[in-house]
Amino acid sequence: MAAGAVNSGANRKDAPVIPILEADRLDVQVLVDNAVDPLSSTPPFVTREPAILRRNGMIRSTGAAMCCANHGLSLVVTAWSGDSPRSVLFDAGPAAMAIAHNAPRLGIDFSAIEAVVLSHGHWDHAGGLIEALDHIRKANLGRPVPCFLHPGMFAERGARQPDGGVFPMENIATPETLAAHGAAPVVTVEPRALAGGHFYLSGEIPRRTAYERGYPAQVRRGADGRWEPDPLLMDERFLAARVKGRGVVVFSACSHAGIVNVLHAARAAFPGERMHAVMGGFHLSGENEAIIPETVADLGGFGLDLILPAHCTGWRAVRALATAYGEGVVVPSAVGKHVTFGGDRR
Ligand SMILES: [Fe+2]
Repeated sequence: MAAGAVNSGANRKDAPVIPILEADRLDVQVLVDNAVDPLSSTPPFVTREPAILRRNGMIRSTGAAMCCANHGLSLVVTAWSGDSPRSVLFDAGPAAMAIAHNAPRLGIDFSAIEAVVLSHGHWDHAGGLIEALDHIRKANLGRPVPCFLHPGMFAERGARQPDGGVFPMENIATPETLAAHGAAPVVTVEPRALAGGHFYLSGEIPRRTAYERGYPAQVRRGADGRWEPDPLLMDERFLAARVKGRGVVVFSACSHAGIVNVLHAARAAFPGERMHAVMGGFHLSGENEAIIPETVADLGGFGLDLILPAHCTGWRAVRALATAYGEGVVVPSAVGKHVTFGGDRR
């Protein structure tokens, strides 16, 4: 396993271990994702979009009933202990429209969401956050929902262009604005347990590998008003849960830290436990297509049973992963899919 030191300036220390409870099973409803794929066959633990839509009231096939794909990610993750569900919203996609369109079609129970996590400060994960909070507030009769944020995600950001200019990114809503829509903002860099101890939210992700270099074009507006480099995006975090009889399931929304670095941090957070699955955006598209070979090779060192690429992973990386590990391990995500980890399924 190549794991040479590299990215200077980043925290490389592992966080203290925070114990969390083991769930009987874990359900994931993909609320927003880059792709639609209602037709490809899936393993038994994945339910395709049309079946979810029919379960929630679709009475005939029609385009108007289908979900829409958008560049971004939003997952509703539910940990079950017996008959008791504990749900977390992990990101909210790029725009209010995606949440407003998909959520009713998928029958999202916003009243059951007891924590909201924003994985990092990018519009494709945060643009639908206010819409999601509005749905939660309406469904839970105004009970503030804890919303976990990192202090580094609120600076104005942009992408440095080849001509030296900066193309700005939409800002993240402030904690005050989020609070006005029903959030109880928790702005912290520390790892913590969520939803009655059923989930783990990481702190900053230590950088270990030589080839995962973050987002080199990323800049942010400094205190002096000038753009400054921000390639490591240290405001990024991952979510994880433990599933009885399976092991740890890791959710990484965009993996600017590098999915191998994310998994190193997850393994450190759950010492001695089996790593069952990783799901999310692995950011192996665009410039990062160059690191597909190293990433695919090193993913093999974690003993994962399942790899579920989503969002920004990119088709070349999905192809490389499927070639390396096979269809029994690599199960691509798409909007509307429902995934169950553990329980009486695989
Ligand atoms: Fe993203």
